[in-house]
This record gives sequence, C-alpha cells and structure tokens, in this order.
Amino acid sequence: MKGSADQYAVVGHPVAHSLSPFIHSLFARQTEQSLTYRLMDVAPERFTERLQEFFTAGGRGVNVTLPHKTRALALADELTERARLAGAVNTLAVRRDGSLLGDNTDGAGLVQDLSVNLGWPVRDRSILLIGAGGAARGVIAPLLALAPRRIVIANRTAERAVALAAVFAGLGALEGCGFEELGGQRFELVINATSASLTGDLPAVPAAAFGADTLCYDMAYGRGDTPLTRWARELGCRDAVPGWGMLVEQAAESFRLWRGVRPLTAPVLAALTGRTAMPGGSAD
Ligand code: ATR
Repeated sequence: MKGSADQYAVVGHPVAHSLSPFIHSLFARQTEQSLTYRLMDVAPERFTERLQEFFTAGGRGVNVTLPHKTRALALADELTERARLAGAVNTLAVRRDGSLLGDNTDGAGLVQDLSVNLGWPVRDRSILLIGAGGAARGVIAPLLALAPRRIVIANRTAERAVALAAVFAGLGALEGCGFEELGGQRFELVINATSASLTGDLPAVPAAAFGADTLCYDMAYGRGDTPLTRWARELGCRDAVPGWGMLVEQAAESFRLWRGVRPLTAPVLAALTGRTAMPGGSAD
C-alpha cells in the first residue's frame, strides 16, 4: 500500500544534486521493501526543528550530508562506535522505542569498495590519505581496523594532519604531515579525502607518491576522471578510480541499518557508472 510506505530522506544544503534518492529507490525495488525516499533541503539554523517534524510525522530515518554531519551527531540519542570515532553522523535511524540512533557508514563504504568491489586487500599496505577534514576523519578507524602497514595523513595545512593523526594514534601506525614532507615516498594506496576535486583543483602531493601499481582512489566522483585520477593516470598509475563505489556502499550500509537487509550493490553501481565488480577495475 503506497500510503503506508515508510519514509526516508537525505538532508543537506544544498541537496538537489544528491543521487541518494535514485540509489535507495533501486535498493527498495530490488529488496521489495515498501518505502519512500526524498530530498530535504534544510538550512543549518532549521536542522533540528525540521528533523523533529520529520520524525514526529512518522519518518523512519535520514541520510545526512554536508553541512549537517556534526549537527546530526548532536541530535542522536545514541551513537555507534564508528560514528563516535568519525565525529560525524551520516545516518539517523528511529529505533523501536522512538529514540534516534546515529551511525556513520562512510568508512565502511570505502572499505567495502576497496576490499570487495576492487578486490584490493588493505592489510600490510602503505596508505597515503590526503586531507584532514571530516571526510578524512571518517575513514581512518575503518582503514586501521584492516591493519595496513602504515597510514600517512598529508594535508595542505600540516598542523591539521598532525592533530588528526594524534586523535587515532592508539589504533595503529599513523602519522600526519604537510605535502612537502612526503619527499620521495611511494605508497600502494593514495586516497583523496580533500574537497579539492569539487573545485577542479589538484592537491599538491608529490608525483613520487604514485607508482604504476599504486591504487589512486578519489572519494569524489563525477563524470569520468577527477583531477587527481586523471593526473595519476598521466603519471602511469594503472588503477585510478573515483568514489562511486563508496557512495553506493555507504548507502547500502544505511539501508541495512534501517531495513535489516543489505541490498546487492553491483547492479546499482553499474546503473550509475557502468562499472562492474572486478579486481583492479576502473570506474570508467
Ligand atoms: P570535509 O568535511 O569535506 O573534509 P573540510 O573539513 O572543510 O571538509 O576539509 C576539507 C579538506 O580539503 C581539508 O583537508 C582541506 O585542506 P586544509 O585543511 O589545508 O584547508 C582540503 N582542501 C580543500 N581544497 C584544497 C586544495 N585546493 N588543495 C589541497 N587541499 C584542499
């Protein structure tokens, strides 16, 4: 019955560009779940009020995107451990007793895309994480949980990278620095967690960070290459992928939290990009 479908939404500002309604509608069709999922453009000062209205009216859950992820953290009655570590919430779910659970599925989405879709084992590998904002913070603990040899966080503003590394120091081999301090070090995985791609910019990491076998993963996505994946290819990197897989996988994790069933992601990823699950595959 259409009228009784459970309601979900993605909350952002702006949010019109979001692909989440498309992704979740495919998940719902595939798993035969009766739900609606819509866009909610909410200005920062109205976040709490609008969400309370949504949940009072029977809404079951939301995805939260920029610029609201720390506001959602404050709104949740309880946090998952990964949301607490990420310092941000991208998924809110109403529980049986009416309380709000805050989760963060971004890191799990990245790790799932790397390990399963791309068939790239993180264990014992060296990782360069570019950026020290919220996007970088969200993926550190899930990556460290897979026991990489080391993670170096490099950021345009070096102090932010050093401070971020200190937050997670107890969880694994982690250090923070500025771009120039990277020197000639080469990494097996380079992840771009800066917002530079969104403005068409290239973070000023040394070319030496990339070898032919380096996987270059840009958490940003768009049509074709991002500035970083294009540059990595020019440097001779065989595998350079934008973050479509992370987008779909974090959505699948949210869907599972809400509905208790994890949808298959490969058909949805293929519908978005033409990318199919294959080791070392390219997103193009
Ligand atoms: P988010 O929550 O999306 O990570 P943020 O907290 O504003 O957003 O962080 C943005 C990140 O992108 C930061 O690491 C920022 O570097 P600074 O800390 O030096 O500002 C990085 N960034 C943005 N534009 C960049 C650019 N053109 N080159 C390199 N890094 C950039």
